[in-house]
Amino acid sequence: MRILVTGGAGFIGSNFILYMMRQHPQDEIINLDALTYAGNLENLKSVENEPNYTFVHGDIADKGKVDEVFKGGVDVVVNFAAESHVDRSILEPEAFVNANVLGTQVLLDAAKRYGVTKFVQVSTDEVYGSLGETGLFSETTPLAPNSPYSASKAGGDLLVRAYHETFGLPVNITRCSNNYGPYQFPEKLIPLMISRALHDESLPIYGDGLNIRDWLYVEDHCSAIDLVIRQGRIGEVYNIGGNNERTNIHIVQTILKELGKPESLIRYVEDRPGHDRRYGIDPTKITEELGWKPKHNFETGIKETIQWYLNNKEWWTRIQSGAYRDYMAKQYSGR
Ligand code: NAD
Ligand code: DAU
Repeated sequence: MRILVTGGAGFIGSNFILYMMRQHPQDEIINLDALTYAGNLENLKSVENEPNYTFVHGDIADKGKVDEVFKGGVDVVVNFAAESHVDRSILEPEAFVNANVLGTQVLLDAAKRYGVTKFVQVSTDEVYGSLGETGLFSETTPLAPNSPYSASKAGGDLLVRAYHETFGLPVNITRCSNNYGPYQFPEKLIPLMISRALHDESLPIYGDGLNIRDWLYVEDHCSAIDLVIRQGRIGEVYNIGGNNERTNIHIVQTILKELGKPESLIRYVEDRPGHDRRYGIDPTKITEELGWKPKHNFETGIKETIQWYLNNKEWWTRIQSGAYRDYMAKQYSGR
């Protein structure tokens, strides 16, 4: 099987490529990535010379480049490529529409013209909006995105749905909760707090710190997508999550305790505009239909992740320069 992985140089995409090359060495992987600030080929050093791995530098919204890739033969598309950070979408929404809506449409069009056995759209629980104190997101929860990021992801998802309904494209959409693990860019809550705590910098918590996210170890997300590629019923949506709801303050306190740093580093700052209060995934469908089960529990997963950041300080200190420094200055000025 020739699998086109878009956004394979990012956090989840690179973990997915490493996972697939271990699990299915007979498959071929083509990684199409624009190498935005979030793309890092260093994550894939261990496989870059493997004969069944090819990297193509390009934008999923570039029709000519996408066409070139499909001409080489593609059986399955797994679309990870996206602008992924909510705070950046509040500062500059346009890039999110280009990558997450237009880019998805260009890929869908190529998949339709050349024919594929499966197009998997890697989406997010954020398209469902925010939960109250009770209830969980199921696959039939109405879409109600609240940020430019989640609205652009929902736009991509609706195009995927339309290409299935209108053109019969064999698609699946996966909607996963918050991932954590190795190679996550240090703008996201867990790696940001680890790296700042290690430098004894203040830890900015938005609002009252009681917003809830449902955390899943990245490898468990990868194993779910692998199952969806092979066994997902055509046209279906699958929610992915491991029943691990935690408040943000709990996450930060866990990190501080593990690193032996004081809680006096915590700073409550102005809230994120449109900040979703709570996410929680009901994973019954993927569990019962496809037999998926996460392998990692949060307590050990978070410890392993903290250890990974301690062991790979060079990886994230190299990132924390240039354009990233400018973003941090803009994002946290006045907070
Ligand atoms: P990331 O920001 O770490 O990586 C995104 C990758 O996509 C980068 O390598 C970047 O260079 C590439 N990219 C961006 N725009 C592109 C374009 N136009 N053409 C080609 N490549 C492009 O993101 P991530 O956290 O790994 O998320 C991957 C996917 O999973 C996204 O679609 C995101 O919406 C979804 N998702 C993420 C989470 C999470 O917790 N991180 C949870 C659920 C779903
Ligand atoms: O739910 C899945 C989504 O999870 C993915 O679709 C997104 O791509 C991914 O970025 C993530 O979105 P969140 O907004 O939930 O993740 P983030 O790490 O940005 O924030 C997690 C929570 O922590 C959120 O409630 C905001 C809060 N936060 C975040 C940062 C960066 C803070 O309190 N302080 C911070 O500095």
